[in-house]
Amino acid sequence: MNQIKNVAVIGAGTMGHSLALLFVQHGFNVWLNDVSDQALAKAKGLIASGLETLVELELLPAGQDKAALARLKTTSSLEEAAGSADLVVEAIVEDKSAKQSLFSALDKICPAHTILASNTSFLDIFKFMQTDRPDKVVITHWFHPPHIIPLVEVVRGPQTSQQTVDCIKGLLEGMGKKPIVITKFLPGFIVNRLQSALRNEALHLLDNGYCTPEEIDVATKASFGLRTPITGVVGRMDFAGLDVTQRVLKSPDFELAPQMRKSKTLDELVAKGRLGVKNGRGYYDYGGQSPHQIMRERDTKLVKLMKFLRDLGEL
Ligand SMILES: NC(=O)c1ccc[n+]([C@@H]2O[C@H](COP(=O)([O-])OP(=O)(O)OC[C@H]3O[C@@H](n4cnc5c(N)ncnc54)[C@H](O)[C@@H]3O)[C@@H](O)[C@H]2O)c1
Repeated sequence: MNQIKNVAVIGAGTMGHSLALLFVQHGFNVWLNDVSDQALAKAKGLIASGLETLVELELLPAGQDKAALARLKTTSSLEEAAGSADLVVEAIVEDKSAKQSLFSALDKICPAHTILASNTSFLDIFKFMQTDRPDKVVITHWFHPPHIIPLVEVVRGPQTSQQTVDCIKGLLEGMGKKPIVITKFLPGFIVNRLQSALRNEALHLLDNGYCTPEEIDVATKASFGLRTPITGVVGRMDFAGLDVTQRVLKSPDFELAPQMRKSKTLDELVAKGRLGVKNGRGYYDYGGQSPHQIMRERDTKLVKLMKFLRDLGEL
């Protein structure tokens, strides 16, 4: 961790702005890069507002938000952002050829010691990255919003060195994160595979009119959503009884939705331009609130919940 002082975050969208916030909050000098000046301007506003929220929640001493913001610089030049970086965190669009050309460029621009970390959700970057530093390439898969959510899935490639893994693990733990190291690549790692199974059923229920978005979310929050922080998913099987779990698994009467590649309700909303919190309407209508307001409320509740769970010894 001591070796890393300068961080470049590439991609200033949903994940990138929150990653930049996290690193400036913890004292790193950050260059935030995006191909879009508009995305950079929006990100800067969200970072300032996110830092203010951390002060309100007493996670950052008063005045430190301004000091943190002063450690942030934005640029649309990749050379400027990555030329002196000790660590590059990539958070651009989930597209194989975009990530491939970015990593080739980074390999040329960055100093020899720079670690390149991708935030890919499911791409096996180790198969297609062309790099002269395979020992310094790693996946760090964060969870939105990464400046608050503790888990980071650290995925090592076949040639990632132990030194790189140790450095990243130390860096993350120093920022209060909970890294888990995955040594064998599989798309979606752990969390997105679990979430995808849930999303598949939720879309099946919505598309076939079994229930409303509100009903699914009430059902989630008032049942397993409440229980999961205490029992986990695997521990929950022990509480239910493994014989009971085995019976459910075997029963042909309990049929689940097939893997969905397309969803009627999702396609309709996207076609209408309802993209979610980022533009104020998705499955829900956020009543004209700005993304800043919506995220601030979410972040405040998340931090309070995390504090409570930490006090219980569950986090
Ligand atoms: N959104 C999530 O909850 C989430 C969670 C974990 C991982 N991820 C992963 O993180 C990555 C980013 O996701 P996101 O949701 O922040 O996407 P996003 O669409 O919100 O942001 C991507 C940003 O990258 C910029 N960009 C595209 N190509 C670029 C390039 N070559 N150089 C610089 N900037 C470029 C775009 O202009 C955009 O601002 C993806 O790989 C995604 O799979 C997303």
